[in-house]
Amino acid sequence: MSGVDTRTNLAGIELRNPVLTASGTFGYGTEFKAFMDLRRIGGFVAKSLTLEPRFGNPPPRIAEVRAGMLNAISLENVGVEAFINEKLPEIPDGVPVIASLFGTEIPAYAEVAKRLTGVPKVAGLEVNASCPHVKSGGIEFGQNPVVLAELVRTVRAATDAPLLVKLSPNVTSIAEMARVCEGEGADGISLINAVQAMDVDVRSRRPVLKNILGGFSGPAILPLALRMVWQAAQAVKLPLCGIGGITDADDAIKFLLCGATAVQVGTANYTNPMAAAEIAEGIAAYADANGFARTADLTGALEAP
Ligand SMILES: Cc1cc2nc3c(=O)[nH]c(=O)nc-3n(C[C@H](O)[C@H](O)[C@H](O)COP(=O)(O)O)c2cc1C
Repeated sequence: MSGVDTRTNLAGIELRNPVLTASGTFGYGTEFKAFMDLRRIGGFVAKSLTLEPRFGNPPPRIAEVRAGMLNAISLENVGVEAFINEKLPEIPDGVPVIASLFGTEIPAYAEVAKRLTGVPKVAGLEVNASCPHVKSGGIEFGQNPVVLAELVRTVRAATDAPLLVKLSPNVTSIAEMARVCEGEGADGISLINAVQAMDVDVRSRRPVLKNILGGFSGPAILPLALRMVWQAAQAVKLPLCGIGGITDADDAIKFLLCGATAVQVGTANYTNPMAAAEIAEGIAAYADANGFARTADLTGALEAP
């Protein structure tokens, strides 16, 4: 199409365009190879990895709600070794993979980070400090600034790979959490993870999810996520990766204008596996139509009200 330059650098990670897919909604990339050339997107964030494989919560653990979905998968994953040995080799060259990591204790996060450092195809790491439905760890790390500081400091000491920290929206001050990440040496911040929520089936009078609580994602959370990205952009100089309810190019552009360097597409992958690729092309078309030579120039280009 146009001569618009779509390249961007997110926290030291070179991307061919600013659209990634979000952890937990794109598997290990391998599942989506059949639907599209993965080189159409900037890269993808793989499902959060733990040291050992995990099975996650019993079903029902996923449910559709108005304008979004609830999930309580609870970090089911193949474990870091199987990811490196079985999943990564299936990913075509030239597709930046950001490995998401999780641990029930801080040292376990650091160990996963160490194992992923220097692994070919792993362009960067994303610390999941914010899963809203695991019994230990997860959200606790992202909700308390002192604990978050220790987590970021420990993982930072364990790796020299580009390091993103993914924040929870379930906090009083997102600006405070963003400052903690900056202070402890993170290279960038991804936000937001799913919003803690629940639903009830009035016929059975039971919670819809076996776990009762889950993470709410999809179009309904976009304005909340946008507000948090904008507030984080005011608070820190770190590059931000905006996430939450992005379904089309206009949604993604809103995050860029509010200060995000890149975005991640999550729930939309379930209804359209090519959503992220189409969004990347839509951002370039918007830049072209509006006189921006580089899509990177959209970052922070929000006009005064
Ligand atoms: C089924 C499902 C599983 C998810 N698993 C993870 C995960 O393993 N790690 C993580 O950091 N975020 C996980 N997320 C959160 C998404 O990456 C994203 O932050 C959130 O869904 C908001 O974006 P969206 O509204 O575009 O979906 C998951 C979301 C869904 C819907």
